[in-house]
Amino acid sequence: MQPDWDELYQDGIKPWDKGTAAPPLLDWMNRNPQKLSGKIMVPGCGLGHDVRAIADVCPVAEVLGIDISGTALQEAAAFAKSGAERYEELDLFDLPGVHHQSFDWIWEHTCFCAIDPERRDDYVEAVHRALKPDGELLGIFYLDPYDEDHQPGGGPPHGTSVAELESRFVGSGRFEITEKYVPEVSYRGRAGLELMLRLKPSAL
Ligand SMILES: C[S@@+](CC[C@H](N)C(=O)[O-])C[C@H]1O[C@@H](n2cnc3c(N)ncnc32)[C@H](O)[C@@H]1O
Repeated sequence: MQPDWDELYQDGIKPWDKGTAAPPLLDWMNRNPQKLSGKIMVPGCGLGHDVRAIADVCPVAEVLGIDISGTALQEAAAFAKSGAERYEELDLFDLPGVHHQSFDWIWEHTCFCAIDPERRDDYVEAVHRALKPDGELLGIFYLDPYDEDHQPGGGPPHGTSVAELESRFVGSGRFEITEKYVPEVSYRGRAGLELMLRLKPSAL
């Protein structure tokens, strides 16, 4: 069952929110200065820490954070602006036509692991549809979020595997992988449990 994300934010229950941008994103941007540019979407952006980090180092980029939780976005918008970032209350699976083939980059972080695993092919289709033909998807995928208290089937975050990611993104014919590594920097407790992927859409 999917959580009521907005209710969680209203109740202040957001253990995923670490109060800072994802360390692997900051590290990648450091090593690839000015690479993120143009129109950039961050799906499931929550309180927008990654959105603001991207806008901060890419001042000419148009960074759009989307989320289905209006409460999260209100909190995101209350932070001091970093650059030209914006937020829209949208469902990734139901993006309006104006966002089709529209983005140069998509930054994925804890949206893929938050959605119902049965919708993962829909996720791949949605991000493929949102990207320009020469756009790119950069993302950090939470492979193993499990511990004693949280087991597979127990709700998000839902883990994945390298094989599953390759099958869904590449096996579907929608993407090819251009970069793949286990990040050397992570939030506390996630070291070695995440995979960074950079993907280019394939023509269908
Ligand atoms: C685990 S939280 C991660 C938030 C943020 N990326 C972070 O790391 O703090 C997952 C986020 O995805 C959002 N979300 C879930 N399903 C979504 C959908 N279909 N479209 C857009 N956002 C969605 C939730 O509201 C929530 O903010």
